[in-house]
Amino acid sequence: MLVTGAAGQVGVDLLDTLRGVTPLGGDPSFQPDRVSVAGDEFEVLGLTRHDLDLTDRDATMRAVASTRPDVIVHLAAYTQVDRAEVEADLCFAVNAGVTETLSLAAHDTGAHLIAISTDYVFDGAKGSAYVEDDTTNPLNVYGASKRAGELLCASDDTIVRTSWVMGVRGKNVLHVIAQRAASGDTVRFVNDQIGTVTLASDLARALVTMTRTRPGGIWHVANSGTTTWFEIAAFAGTVLGRGDDFATPIATSDLEPPPLATRPTRSDLSMGKWVDAGWQALPEWRDGVTRLLGDRALRTEAGS
Ligand SMILES: NC(=O)c1ccc[n+]([C@@H]2O[C@H](COP(=O)([O-])OP(=O)(O)OC[C@H]3O[C@@H](n4cnc5c(N)ncnc54)[C@H](OP(=O)(O)O)[C@@H]3O)[C@@H](O)[C@H]2O)c1
Repeated sequence: MLVTGAAGQVGVDLLDTLRGVTPLGGDPSFQPDRVSVAGDEFEVLGLTRHDLDLTDRDATMRAVASTRPDVIVHLAAYTQVDRAEVEADLCFAVNAGVTETLSLAAHDTGAHLIAISTDYVFDGAKGSAYVEDDTTNPLNVYGASKRAGELLCASDDTIVRTSWVMGVRGKNVLHVIAQRAASGDTVRFVNDQIGTVTLASDLARALVTMTRTRPGGIWHVANSGTTTWFEIAAFAGTVLGRGDDFATPIATSDLEPPPLATRPTRSDLSMGKWVDAGWQALPEWRDGVTRLLGDRALRTEAGS
C-alpha cells in the first residue's frame, strides 16, 4: 500500500492502524467489517511531503511505478480552507492536479486508488443529510478544488468523502478547545453550521475496510450524529470539567474578522450507503470526542 499525506492527522492514524497498532484516541474494538487488523496484513509505504512533493507529476508517476502498490490511499491535500481563497492555484494544483496524477498512475500500474474528499463539495441548501449522489455545489475554493479532484478520478476509483476531521495530531478545533479549557479561558463557537464529526482513528478503520474491499464509487464516512461547532465545544468543556459558561454560541455573521471562505450551513454526511453495504456505522461523535480528550497525549499537547 502507498499512503500519501502520511504525516497528516489522518495519515498518522492510518499508518498506525495498518500496522496493527491502535492510534491515540482510537477504539481497538471498532472495525467496520468486523475483521481485526493483523500487524502483518499490509505492507505499507507512507509518503510525506519531505519524501516527495506530489505536485512534481513526473516524480510522482515514477514513485508509483517503482513501488507498484496494490492500493493507493491518497490523503495528502491542501487543507487550509480560508487561505485557499487567496491561494487558489496552489490549492487546485494539489487537490485536483495531484489526485489526477495518482488516478492515472494507479491506472497505469493496476493499483486501486482511494482518494479522500470533503463535505464542502456541497452548498448546504438541501436541509438534510447528504447522500453520495446528491448534487454538488461548492461554496469555497477548497470545496471546488476537492470536487475537481473527484471529477478527475476514474469511474472505478474509490472516493471517500469525510467531514470535520479530528485527530490527536495536527491542528484541529478540539486542540484549541482543550487548550482554552486547560488555561481557564472561555470560547465562542458558531451554532449555525451543522455537520458531522469524523475521528481520524475511526476514519482510519473505515479506510482499512475500503482497502480490503476496493468498492469503487463515492462513499460518505463520518461518525454518527449531527452537531454544531458550539455543541462540540460545550460537550468538550463538560468532559474536561468546565462549567456551563465555558462555551458561548454565536452566529457565523458575528465572527470577527469574517472568515475568508464561505462554509455550508448544513453539510452532514449520511452513512446510509455504508450501513446498507453491511458495514458497522462509525461510533457516535460524543464517544469519539470523549476518547480523544481522554487521551493523555492530547492533554499533554494541550497543556504545552
Ligand atoms: N481536516 C478536515 O477537517 C477534513 C475534512 C474533510 C476532508 N478532509 C480530507 O481528508 C484528507 C486528510 O486530511 P488531514 O486532516 O489529514 O489533512 P492534513 O493534516 O492537513 O494533512 C495533509 C498532508 O498533506 C501534505 N501535503 C500537502 N501538499 C502536499 C504536496 N504537494 N506533496 C506532498 N504532501 C503534501 C501535508 O504536508 P504539509 O503539512 O507539509 O503541508 C500534510 O501532511 C484530505 O484529503 C482532506 O482534504 C479533511
